[in-house]
Amino acid sequence: MSLKYLSEKQVNEMLDMNTCIGLMKDVFTAFAEGKMENKLRSVFPLQAGNVFGIMPAVIPFEEVCGAKLITVFPSNHSKGLSSHLGVVAVFSAGDGQLLGLCDGTAITAIRTGAVSAVATEYLSRKDSSTMCLIGGGVQADMHLKAITMVRDIKRVTIWCPTLSESEKFCKKHKAEYPHIEFIPCENCADAVKDADIINTVTPSTVPVLFGEWVKKGAHINAVGACSKTARELDSQCVAKAKLFCDNYDSCRNEAGDYLFPLNEGVINESHLLGDLGEVVSGKVVTRTSDEDITIFESQGLACEDVVCAAWLLKQ
Ligand SMILES: NC(=O)c1ccc[n+]([C@@H]2O[C@H](COP(=O)([O-])OP(=O)(O)OC[C@H]3O[C@@H](n4cnc5c(N)ncnc54)[C@H](O)[C@@H]3O)[C@@H](O)[C@H]2O)c1
Repeated sequence: MSLKYLSEKQVNEMLDMNTCIGLMKDVFTAFAEGKMENKLRSVFPLQAGNVFGIMPAVIPFEEVCGAKLITVFPSNHSKGLSSHLGVVAVFSAGDGQLLGLCDGTAITAIRTGAVSAVATEYLSRKDSSTMCLIGGGVQADMHLKAITMVRDIKRVTIWCPTLSESEKFCKKHKAEYPHIEFIPCENCADAVKDADIINTVTPSTVPVLFGEWVKKGAHINAVGACSKTARELDSQCVAKAKLFCDNYDSCRNEAGDYLFPLNEGVINESHLLGDLGEVVSGKVVTRTSDEDITIFESQGLACEDVVCAAWLLKQ
């Protein structure tokens, strides 16, 4: 039997963002209905801050199980490689057969933007029209694509460690989004201050977003910090916001953005108000005022990857 394998190019061609947003809504609805099993990832540190991760999940409603194997090498771009390289394997939960493999780089990229779009649709103000990107890599591209599908964005500000990277990002996207004004910023506070939606998409281990910069009514997708020793948000930012996560276990075990302020005593455990399944299914109260600040803390879940791969392998 020949094994089905979908390359990065094939995944990018087949898994359009709109479809993926729909798949991610299904994932979190299934979570809320108790129809999803997800285990914490195992992460092996490699040299120089790089990591190898294994992310397993069982998807009962698709009758599949599977896992993503992924390496994260943040400085890989200098070698012309992606910072995230991996594969998602899908097995039949009926007879145990390996159904196929899909490139994990493309799935990770697309599903992460899609999950933030779901969170943004349910948590941000409906009239949100200005968006800030902190970081200008793959996830900045994906968040631009995904968030513009759920909100009518008219202005995008971006801050990267160098102004030239921010300028390059704006130049790259201007033609595709002619109705959006793109503003590269030299200073992160300037990029943030008028934004209705803020996305932190960096591998920084120390805060890049400070609460004092965030305007009333903003929604934040905190995406980049996926370990207990890394954070992108300062404690004040988390304290002044309504906090939601993708998954309680992941947030309580892996999210520095939550664990740093918790361990400092700036917030307590009741500050975490719900997971995305509860948000999507209306089981928790979310925004009650146009002045509320909301945070979606994204760790990234194996079930997101396996659902995408299972869908791709069925096409
Ligand atoms: N939550 C999730 O599900 C999920 C999924 C994929 C990636 N991620 C994480 O999101 C982050 C971004 O991923 P990506 O694929 O866009 O990476 P990338 O390497 O393509 O881009 C990273 C961006 O961050 C900037 N940057 C690097 N170091 C920085 C620092 N110290 N401070 C501020 N900015 C810095 C870079 O200049 C670049 O613009 C990574 O930490 C990654 O692990 C999370």
